[in-house]
Amino acid sequence: MKNTQKLHLLPFSVLACLVYQIDGTLFPSPVLTGPDKAYLGSKVMFQCIVPGATLPITYNLLREGKEVVAPRMDVSQAATFSLKIAMSSAGSYHCEASAGELTASSGTVHLQVVIPVSGASVTPDPSPPVMYEGSRLILRCDVTRGSHLSYTWFFNKQEVMSSALPSLRLSGNVLVVDEVTQVHAGSYSCVAGTKMRTNSRFSSSGELQVTVKVFFSVPMISLSVSKEGRDYVGNVTCRSSKGSPPVTFHLLLDGEERTFVEATESLVAVFPVAIVPGRDMGVARCLAQSEVQQLLSDPLNLEVVPVGGRAEVEVDYLYRADYKMDAVKLQCLLSRGTFPFFSWSLNNSVLSPDGDTESHTHSHTPPRYTITDAGRTLLLPDLAAKESGYYRCRARDSYDETSPWVESVAVLVQAEESTMTTIEVVAIAFCCFLMLVLAAGVAYMMNMADRQRGSVNNNRAVNTFPLSPVSNPAEVNQMDTSSVNSDTHNQTMEITV
Ligand SMILES: *[C@@H]1O[C@H](CO)[C@@H](O)[C@H](O)[C@H]1NC(C)=O
Ligand SMILES: *[C@@H]1O[C@H](CO)[C@@H](O)[C@H](O)[C@H]1NC(C)=O
Repeated sequence: MKNTQKLHLLPFSVLACLVYQIDGTLFPSPVLTGPDKAYLGSKVMFQCIVPGATLPITYNLLREGKEVVAPRMDVSQAATFSLKIAMSSAGSYHCEASAGELTASSGTVHLQVVIPVSGASVTPDPSPPVMYEGSRLILRCDVTRGSHLSYTWFFNKQEVMSSALPSLRLSGNVLVVDEVTQVHAGSYSCVAGTKMRTNSRFSSSGELQVTVKVFFSVPMISLSVSKEGRDYVGNVTCRSSKGSPPVTFHLLLDGEERTFVEATESLVAVFPVAIVPGRDMGVARCLAQSEVQQLLSDPLNLEVVPVGGRAEVEVDYLYRADYKMDAVKLQCLLSRGTFPFFSWSLNNSVLSPDGDTESHTHSHTPPRYTITDAGRTLLLPDLAAKESGYYRCRARDSYDETSPWVESVAVLVQAEESTMTTIEVVAIAFCCFLMLVLAAGVAYMMNMADRQRGSVNNNRAVNTFPLSPVSNPAEVNQMDTSSVNSDTHNQTMEITV
């Protein structure tokens, strides 16, 4: 206890330099020690010291120049004054030491009165703290009493630093988020307190739950059809990918509200609609309505066209950078049908849609393939002999197993060798073409040389470029050996010129 007291007195010692002389002995000016802050209602000590004093000295403690307690006569070098702190105790203190006629003054000590903190709480704006993304949140840390306070904020029990969360600012007892997002949702609390050299006091608030609501996304509309008995049933599905419930979905048919579904937790609503395949049943739209939004989906034509017309297989050979065949892609092109179900076959045996080959009985090493794009596309990743054969696709209405199939003609897809040969033919043809260009070039040079030797003075012939391959038997022979017709030859000449 004594130690603590010393600790708080010493740093506030104020040393004065004035020195008085009495009877040839030094009378130094007094030194006042005391706290700079004290809690209201607490007891504090001030000490006035005259180092080396030997005479009886009268000590006096003054606040703002007025006596605080009765002066005290003492023979010792120090006098201690005990004060009970009231609001009026704040101010500048100094002490005086007098001996006989002489009086010396100490420096001053400034005392602040601190009201102990209590009753911290968080006050939100808006209240209750429930808001949409993008709005502003203000939290204030309030106390029922207290002074000289500093504040610390906690978010989900972690201390909040100014830059910890985006668009968050701390100033004084206020926490501001200019634009809230989902990351700001959570529990907030604050601690208010006064930091003292000893006996710091703090008060913590309770947790405040902040809720950030998400706006709804534009609803997507889709239609599915099933056959029940002899009737067809359509489901229109309205779905928002995000948003904070509740939301109400409305189905509009040709602009008129048909029915609505209150979706409290789910972001999806399903509406049954009457469907007659082949007949236009109108245009549907979904309307999603929340307390702050009204969102309309794209229109959806409720016309279910039965599968019909022609089916055709389109073959794409896909090559790698080195001209090796990478894969073969077969696509089933169907002239019409809103909900087609596709099926593929190789040499008249049906390929299972999930790549399984149990229905394929022709070979013990089953063909490798992938069916994608809701059955529309068949991909042969590595065309080998076992995948070669006649491919065919067919389609029917997915909602009606008894509907008739529309079938394509079979197309022959063959393994790599033959296709590679095509490329090689192209490559060889290109080489021949190059050789021919060279040969023609050489022939031309020789012809020119001949002419220059034969008619040195005939400049006109050179200028007009009268090239006639037939006139030179050597050249004709050359052309014959490379077995190229005269069309190609003409073309070659044009390029060389
Ligand atoms: C239509 O919706 C009902 C009820 O949600 C469901 O039972 C049925 O399977 C749906 N039919 C289709 C084709 O999606
Ligand atoms: C499919 O038939 C063709 C022609 O008959 C044949 O060359 C090919 O090997 C057959 N493919 C399979 C996988 O049986």
